[in-house]
Amino acid sequence: MSDFMDDRLVEIEAFSMEEERSEVTLRPDAWSEYIGQEQIKKNLGVFIEASKKRDEALDHVLFYGPPGLGKTTLALIIANEMNTNIKVTAAPMIEKSGDLAAILTNLEEGDILFIDEIHRLSPAVEEILYSSMEDYRIDIIIGSGPAAQTVKIDLPRFTLIGATTRAGMLSNPLRDRFGMSFRMQFYTTEELAKIVIQASNKLEREIIREASLEIAKRSRGTPRIALRLLRRVRDFAEVANEEDINHSRTKYALDELGINSFGFDEMDLRLLNLLVAAKGRAMGLSSIAASLSEDEGTVEDVLEPYLIANGYLERTAKGRRATRATYDVLNMEYVNSDGTLF
Ligand SMILES: Nc1ncnc2c1ncn2[C@@H]1O[C@H](COP(=O)(O)OP(=O)(O)OP(=O)(O)O)[C@@H](O)[C@H]1O
Ligand SMILES: [Mg+2]
Repeated sequence: MSDFMDDRLVEIEAFSMEEERSEVTLRPDAWSEYIGQEQIKKNLGVFIEASKKRDEALDHVLFYGPPGLGKTTLALIIANEMNTNIKVTAAPMIEKSGDLAAILTNLEEGDILFIDEIHRLSPAVEEILYSSMEDYRIDIIIGSGPAAQTVKIDLPRFTLIGATTRAGMLSNPLRDRFGMSFRMQFYTTEELAKIVIQASNKLEREIIREASLEIAKRSRGTPRIALRLLRRVRDFAEVANEEDINHSRTKYALDELGINSFGFDEMDLRLLNLLVAAKGRAMGLSSIAASLSEDEGTVEDVLEPYLIANGYLERTAKGRRATRATYDVLNMEYVNSDGTLF
């Protein structure tokens, strides 16, 4: 692969830790390895083929959805498919409009610019992004005071790929400038099991199917969590001198790690307990956020989607409510606000 491989490895490493590094190794770089998200794959495939036929840059793309569902991975696969360079960055790294101008003017025709956490751009930077996305041109102010001059710079036709966990925080003008936007879906147990098996192959470890399903079930619909659990289970197998990853070792390891069999993490459980404690009454978003010491947007965009998708939380006009399933899953009796049993 061309210099784009070098580019992306370096860029990713720049904001990475141990886990991120291992994610780079396990990250699929072709459609064939990208499991699930069928609708997105199908649509993107069409758009990619069409733009390749026309020999044009792909329209700007936005991916949104909870963390770890494969947004960055998709961006890298697109670059691979389009055979173009990709410059990977994240909104917090673009502090001033000059930073963005420098990135944009260094792009070449057809390049992809990937901006992660795109909801975190400052208004001044966002403004520059608008004109560059729409007209492939930016206005830069040189000098200051009465001597200041505006210089117009033409940019190459590039593709912006934006990713965000917080679609609600994007401004309308920015959202409108993406030709395509895709909402990431949680993965099914079967899909996650496939991802786990594929990753074990890359790690040169045999995994029993039941073991892959066991990991999948406890992964909160999220590939990143599945891969994290796989690595931990592998550690347990290694210490036990077992060649293959079997079902009983997997269950043992996951139980030892305190991984809930519904895939909930600590924050999920705190939220669910809160709702259950309200005894059937709906709770407002702001009081939930305050009780969890989180901001409302995080509760709404990051925490709730998985719970709602699985029927453990209900959004009503009055607020959030526990469901029958919430009580079941917490092993609690279902009681109404007046204390009577359901
Ligand atoms: N569809 C998939 N098939 C196989 N592996 C996947 C898939 N989606 C994600 N992964 C794996 O999960 C890891 C996390 O995915 P990725 O980094 O793309 O998530 P993200 O949506 O960008 O997360 P964040 O919002 O935190 O940036 C990747 O390293 C990749 O190995
Ligand atoms: Mg990402």
